Amino acid sequence: MICNNITKDSRGKLYFAGMDVSDLAKSFGTPLYLFDEERIRSNCRVYTEAMKKYFPQGSSVCYASKAASFAEIYRIAMQEGMCVDVVSRGEIYTALKAGFPLKRAFFHSNNKTDEDIAFAIERGIGYFVCDCEEELLFISSVAKERNITQKVILRLTPGIDPHTYEAVATGKVDSKFGSAIETGQAFDITRTALSLEGVELCGFHCHVGSQVFDSTVFFDAAKIMLEYVARVKAELGYEAEILDLGGGYGVRYVEDDPFIDIGDNLRLVSEFVADLCKKLSLKLPKIHMEPGRSIVADAGMTLYTVGSVKRIPGYKNYVSIDGGMTDNPRFALYGSKYTVLCPDKMNEENTFSCDLVGRCCESGDVIQESIKLPATVKRGDLIAVCTTGAYNYSMASNYNRLPRPAIVMIRDKSARVVVERESLEDIVRLDK
Ligand code: LLP
Repeated sequence: MICNNITKDSRGKLYFAGMDVSDLAKSFGTPLYLFDEERIRSNCRVYTEAMKKYFPQGSSVCYASKAASFAEIYRIAMQEGMCVDVVSRGEIYTALKAGFPLKRAFFHSNNKTDEDIAFAIERGIGYFVCDCEEELLFISSVAKERNITQKVILRLTPGIDPHTYEAVATGKVDSKFGSAIETGQAFDITRTALSLEGVELCGFHCHVGSQVFDSTVFFDAAKIMLEYVARVKAELGYEAEILDLGGGYGVRYVEDDPFIDIGDNLRLVSEFVADLCKKLSLKLPKIHMEPGRSIVADAGMTLYTVGSVKRIPGYKNYVSIDGGMTDNPRFALYGSKYTVLCPDKMNEENTFSCDLVGRCCESGDVIQESIKLPATVKRGDLIAVCTTGAYNYSMASNYNRLPRPAIVMIRDKSARVVVERESLEDIVRLDK
């Protein structure tokens, strides 16, 4: 199986996090997002334990909550001793509602509005990850008005191609995110940050991309960033306390995807950072990482019910399900791969070639193309799409006025609803 929290019994029934998924579908209905709490926690611990071990000078792991943002996730992150990366007032508000201490939150986004900045400062956000000079100036003015000193980290673009798909490559010089080192804009904003009242510069940040399998990308990023830290120390007399290397480690969606040993990667990054700091005569900065996908992706699964099975002789076959791009837009957006299973037919051979499509009124509403399912697949059967914990619920929409599915969290073989299924009343709630 693609992940070891997915198993089957001798009758050919699919289990997720130790629970029979057909029972879950019966109890909670479909479409349904499932989350495996133990897996989320163990993924958090892979990071927190490795970071503690390999970065004794101090480190933090910030869960990038854009991957899956709902109150229970912030509670779990808090209990696991994580910080969080938030990108909007919505994420901040959700974290607050969950009781997450905002001192441990890092506010990202390439375009924080005046209202966002005031909102975050008022509620005591720990750090701004500042994208550009205009934002920095505004933060400084709000902080001064309130007589506080706001901690900031500067997001820089190191000019690295992470070899992933274009929509999630963010570290290149022409990226919409951050201030580029190559163009001199990083240096300008650093000088400004050091001269401004109301802000305290705490270090630098970069995030080169997402679903990255090439580990050298993180070494390249660390090298460029540390050389920059050394230049700033030499020319401006400021030595960064924090170096945030962002998120991005890739996860396995299909059997062909490689497996990344994150603990081992972090050990190698730590050795690389320590060596380079010695060469550059820098003190070891506190290293921060911001994983999103690798915390929640394999802790998720989506269940659907088959509606129609359409055979177009001489052309192709479609299996339509009761969800679609509204609960998982990732194939439509990026052509993302997924492993698709038939939970009640795990002992049957997969011989029926088809596209798995949603119920939205457009042809691009595809969950996965050219897959194989059992030839007996028919209306009423269950379908499971694996590894949907990251960027599925968080990117869901109400296109065609489809209500969003519920989220069920599984722990110790017991399931509880952590986000209710939207009702038709929810759909019209804001209409006048
Ligand atoms: N830090 C920053 C500043 C980021 O922009 C991101 C992701 C992360 C951390 C977390 O990266 P991760 O560990 O999850 O790869 N919607 C796309 C992914 C967009 C990623 C955006 N930024 C998808 O579904 O693949």
